[in-house]
Amino acid sequence: MSLFCGHAKIKDNIEIAPGIYHMVLNCPEVAEDAAPGQFIHIRCTDALSPLLRRPISIAMADKKEGTVEVIYRVVGQGTRLLAGKKKGQMLDIMGPLGHGFPIPPWVKHPVIVGGGIGTAPLLFLAESIREHKLSSAGSPELSGCEDIMKTGNSCGKPAKEFIGTVFVGFLTEKEIFGAELLKDCGFKVEICTDDGSRGYKGFPTDLLEMYLNDGPSPSSGKVSPAIDIIYACGPSPLLSKVASMASRAKIPAYVSLEERMACGVGACLGCAVKSADGGYMKICKDGPVFEVSQVTDL
Ligand SMILES: Cc1cc2nc3c(=O)[nH]c(=O)nc-3n(C[C@H](O)[C@H](O)[C@H](O)COP(=O)(O)OP(=O)(O)OC[C@H]3O[C@@H](n4cnc5c(N)ncnc54)[C@H](O)[C@@H]3O)c2cc1C
Ligand code: FES
Repeated sequence: MSLFCGHAKIKDNIEIAPGIYHMVLNCPEVAEDAAPGQFIHIRCTDALSPLLRRPISIAMADKKEGTVEVIYRVVGQGTRLLAGKKKGQMLDIMGPLGHGFPIPPWVKHPVIVGGGIGTAPLLFLAESIREHKLSSAGSPELSGCEDIMKTGNSCGKPAKEFIGTVFVGFLTEKEIFGAELLKDCGFKVEICTDDGSRGYKGFPTDLLEMYLNDGPSPSSGKVSPAIDIIYACGPSPLLSKVASMASRAKIPAYVSLEERMACGVGACLGCAVKSADGGYMKICKDGPVFEVSQVTDL
């Protein structure tokens, strides 16, 4: 896999929810090699400050179109500069970087747990799981869910098969994104909001816990196979709850750690986390996705 380091043209950069932006980049080199869970490292300005690049997960990649999509929340100087970028401008990016989510061939019922902006890389994951499952089942219906926004947040080609279950949580209804795409990828999507403005009032980990204790809710219709893998991305409390529930239930679980980074390529130790064997791992190079038993401080 090769690392692209250069300028990509911005095809689109629009606000999809208050303070949350969806950017589409034309970059066939990154699109070709990208895997779900990997990130691009973005230089937000040509000026001196901020000097450091900002890591943003790949929310979708389309090899045919040569595009890479990201969804980001404006939290500080770097992301504010990104939000001000216009269609047609060039953006200095490096990627794809890091190790993404594995999709083992034995997976029957994947469960995806997302919190807020952490849902972004899970869209690419859901689409990749769907492709893996359909191609291993020999299904011809493989094109489809790459387009996050163009068809009203939906790929417009719903999968007929049950692919898995998603629990996603957002602060309020206004911040929800990606739900239709996840549904169209064949996932049963359970939405939560902190304020109860849509779906279950509470956290996605509450729903995961209920599911693990009691099985699917009566509204879910068909009985689905037992959960055999869990993927998560979101705030640290969400990841640590997922990690403890998964280890109690003896289900393999993979989480993406979105901590602060500097170089992004393993050269500075700016993103070290303690590993279970007593050493340290670099989130940018060894992760950002880890099996939960690999990391001690979840
Ligand atoms: C592998 C990886 C993937 C990521 N993917 C996404 C993504 O898809 N979408 C997205 O919106 N963000 C993502 N992030 C977080 C994103 O990198 C930061 O929000 C961004 O770097 C902030 O830059 P800034 O200059 O705007 O804010 P800064 O001025 O650097 O910081 C502003 C505030 O945000 C906090 N902050 C900064 N970085 C992080 C972080 N990594 N985690 C939590 N709080 C932080 C700071 O403590 C501060 O309070 C990802 C981070 C990593 C490591
Ligand atoms: S950010 Fe430099 S080693 Fe990870």
